[in-house]
This record gives sequence, C-alpha cells and structure tokens, in this order.
Amino acid sequence: MAIPFRLRPAEMKDAASLLAWRNDPATREASHNQDVIGLDAHIKWLSNSLNKPDLRLLWIAEMDGLAVGTCRADRLEYAWEVSWTVAPEVRGKGIAHQMLSKLVHNFNEPLVAQVKPDNIASMKVAERAGFVLDKQENGVLLYIYPSTPSIAD
Ligand SMILES: CC(C)(COP(=O)(O)OP(=O)(O)OC[C@H]1O[C@@H](n2cnc3c(N)ncnc32)[C@H](O)[C@@H]1OP(=O)(O)O)[C@@H](O)C(=O)NCCC(=O)NCCS
Repeated sequence: MAIPFRLRPAEMKDAASLLAWRNDPATREASHNQDVIGLDAHIKWLSNSLNKPDLRLLWIAEMDGLAVGTCRADRLEYAWEVSWTVAPEVRGKGIAHQMLSKLVHNFNEPLVAQVKPDNIASMKVAERAGFVLDKQENGVLLYIYPSTPSIAD
C-alpha cells in the first residue's frame, strides 16, 4: 500500500524544522545565501512569508504524517520561482520528486527554478517533474516549467 503523502501550507509551528533544514550544510551549499540563519531572523522571515501569500507560498511535505521536506514559490513578474529541500535524514528516497510532481499542479502560470550545476539530484528531480533547461546564467542553471502542458502530457 502506498505511504500517504501530501503537501500542506506551512505554519509557524514548522519554524524549527524549516530552520534546521535551511541550516543543513547541503542546503546552504545549494543556496545563493550560504550564511547560517539565526532563530530570530528565521522567525521574522517565516512570519513575513506567511503573511504575504501573494508574494510567497510555502509548503510542508508530509509522509505518513511526518514532515519530510518543504517547497517554496516566490512571485516574479512573469512566473513563480520554486525551490525545494528534503529533510536531511530522509534524502535519497525520491521525496523531492514526489513533492515537485504535486507542486507543479498548484499553478496555472509558468514556473522557473534555479539549480546549481553540481546539484545533480535537483537537476534530475526538476527534469523528471517536467522542467526544461532554458539556459545557464551566472553559473546557475535556469529551468522553466511551461504553463500549458504539451499534447504529449
Ligand atoms: C537535492 C534534494 C532536493 C534531492 O532530494 P531527494 O528526494 O533526496 O533526491 P534523491 O536522492 O532521491 O535523488 C533524485 C534523483 O537524483 C539521482 N541522484 C542523486 N544524487 C545523484 C548523483 N550524485 N549523481 C547522479 N544522480 C544522482 C537519484 O538517483 C534520483 O534519480 P532517479 O529519480 O532517477 O531515481 C535533496 O538532496 C536536498 O534537499 N538537498 C539540499 C537542498 C537542495 O539542494 N535543494 C535544491 C535546490 S535547487
């Protein structure tokens, strides 16, 4: 039987998990800002994020009721920019793929994602969810997810 998996909106009660995942070394390595984030700054960031759903959307992925990862979408002028993190203790099990394949169905608009070229797992996850490599800019791979599914889909 399939293990229940869902994406739900993040809440303030998720602050500790989100901070731990954000400060994990591999997450920092994959991020533009690689600084360790402190608790106060994180709480402020999360509270602001949850209060601006027109600009930022945050989800928690739950597997069998346990928080196993997060996805985020930031409003750009022409698209939403998405990013994702799996809890360090459950990486290597295909969870990012499950998160992203659910996430893309929440949008009717184009999505973009930035992936560093050494992040092979994220490149694979993005491509498997339907993202297409658009270009490489400033050392980062820019992926796009078209707003209209192709006929083959
Ligand atoms: C990157 C990340 C999201 C991947 O999540 P995950 O669910 O654990 O991914 P998996 O380990 O199951 O790997 C996904 C795919 O990449 C493949 N893969 C993983 N590491 C690989 C490597 N070094 N070389 C080649 N393939 C690799 C897996 O085999 C899998 O392929 P498959 O779908 O064909 O089976 C997770 O490691 C993470 O949160 N990292 C830190 C934050 C981060 O990088 N976020 C993304 C920013 S763009």
